[in-house]
Amino acid sequence: MSIRVYVPRDSSALSMGAEAVASAVASEAARHNADIAIVRNGSRGLYWLEPMVEVETSLGRIAYGPVTNKDVASLFEADFLHGGRHALLRGPVDEIPYLRKQERLTFARVGITDPLSLEDYAAHGGWQGLRAALAMDGASAVKQVTDSGLRGRGGAAFPAGIKWKTVLDTPSHQKYVVCNADEGDSGTYSDRMIMEGDPYVLIEGMAIAGIAVGATHGYIYVRSEYPHACQILADAITLAREQSYLGANILGSDKAFELEVRKGAGAYICGEETSLLESLEGKRGMVRFKPPLPAISGLFGKPTVINNVITLASVPIIFAKGADHYRNYGLGRSRGTLPIQLAGNLKHCGLVEKAFGVTLRELLYDYGGGSASGRPLRAVQVGGPLGAYLPEQQFDTPLDYEAFAAIGAMVGHGGIVAFDDTVDMASMARYAMEFCAIESCGKCTPCRIGSTRGVEVIDHIVAGDEREKHIALLEDLCDTMINGSLCALGGMTPFPVQSALKYFPNDFHVAPKRKVA
Ligand SMILES: Cc1cc2nc3c(=O)[nH]c(=O)nc-3n(C[C@H](O)[C@H](O)[C@H](O)COP(=O)(O)O)c2cc1C
Ligand code: SF4
Repeated sequence: MSIRVYVPRDSSALSMGAEAVASAVASEAARHNADIAIVRNGSRGLYWLEPMVEVETSLGRIAYGPVTNKDVASLFEADFLHGGRHALLRGPVDEIPYLRKQERLTFARVGITDPLSLEDYAAHGGWQGLRAALAMDGASAVKQVTDSGLRGRGGAAFPAGIKWKTVLDTPSHQKYVVCNADEGDSGTYSDRMIMEGDPYVLIEGMAIAGIAVGATHGYIYVRSEYPHACQILADAITLAREQSYLGANILGSDKAFELEVRKGAGAYICGEETSLLESLEGKRGMVRFKPPLPAISGLFGKPTVINNVITLASVPIIFAKGADHYRNYGLGRSRGTLPIQLAGNLKHCGLVEKAFGVTLRELLYDYGGGSASGRPLRAVQVGGPLGAYLPEQQFDTPLDYEAFAAIGAMVGHGGIVAFDDTVDMASMARYAMEFCAIESCGKCTPCRIGSTRGVEVIDHIVAGDEREKHIALLEDLCDTMINGSLCALGGMTPFPVQSALKYFPNDFHVAPKRKVA
């Protein structure tokens, strides 16, 4: 029987030369007359080891990494096809501490299976959730999601069950399910990893959503910067349709669900749900007034479930293993697990799926390994470009929506970007305003004008020009943006600015005014 060799096809691995590694493995195998089958899996999310090549042996899967095409000849010489010793040997994959300590529910299959193999997906528990949903009526299916405690993973953490119930209860001959795969937050990549590494879990989650609320058509809105994800999704949808997991009669039932991929053009605001719907309708991505909520009047004016990739990809396991299984993970009102993405100045950047409750410190040091530069970590930004900057004294905060809100921060999509002590927080605050100015959709004044004025005011503060007056002006401007903006882009841009000023006043050349919590 052929020996299976896994070379990831995830964008991160490709960017590190995985394609050349796969070709080198194929030609070396031919030279050695070795009978191998190369599987292009998703990434395990241990990015410092990419491309991480795995070999299936009698002792389980053995990892080597980071492998370049130049290492391949020596790997064959070291008999890596049987787990031979080599400088790049990482041992049995399941025993790598970074992976062993995780609680992978949503990412259970990523890196393990062949992303496009329907057999592999089914063999690893796939479609069980869909079959369970097909046996339920809409109200029971929605209740399952409500009981699981699942909250939206795109940023706002709104309970998924309440959103689905609104769509279910709104009568209409046509309803939609839209997947938000715009993934614009800095340091985030979990949506992309799922789409590239386990596309059927998203397809299954969307089909379940459609069956639950009575929607027969779905769209996945993917940012154009994700060409590999778009291609894999398109292929997966075709294959799933051929086997009746999608289409007019799902698995022989009377339920129908069709799915299409749409590419966004790369605007941060098109991740905001109403802008996304405008863009999906072929218009310029501008924020809509709410109400009406998209659940009542969404895509083309029809009731629409719009959820993030991770929210939808977490649905199949809830149906396969039951709501209680999922809600038994986590703490407080933050139930289940969160795929956390470590980025920035860390030794071990990557994907860590853990139950809510893990602390920032554990993530930064036990998983992240501390800073890549070897210098002390000074600040982290959690939840994307609109998230607060947190200082070292807040690293013991558990990842929990309410605990984060209590310190003026947000968990958001679970992206954590770390900075060492060389970071200049005044320039980070300036960047937050500049980012908002560039990405503003322009619909409301506090954001459109305020962000540009914000950049200028921070410049005055840093230059020492009437510092006290400009700090008061900046605080007033932040207050106006928070309370007067139509959406969270203008409404939350002040959070990184205010937190930088509060915790790192010296970088603005100002003495701390308030007691720092
Ligand atoms: C400026 C802005 C950008 C956003 N970008 C994204 C995004 O890239 N992906 C996402 O899922 N949600 C994003 N959101 C949140 C969405 O508006 C919405 O809350 C989400 O799609 C709902 O899905 P969920 O309940 O599953 O999180 C953004 C919100 C704002 C205000
Ligand atoms: S806050 Fe900014 S992005 Fe949001 S609606 Fe207003 S102008 Fe548009």
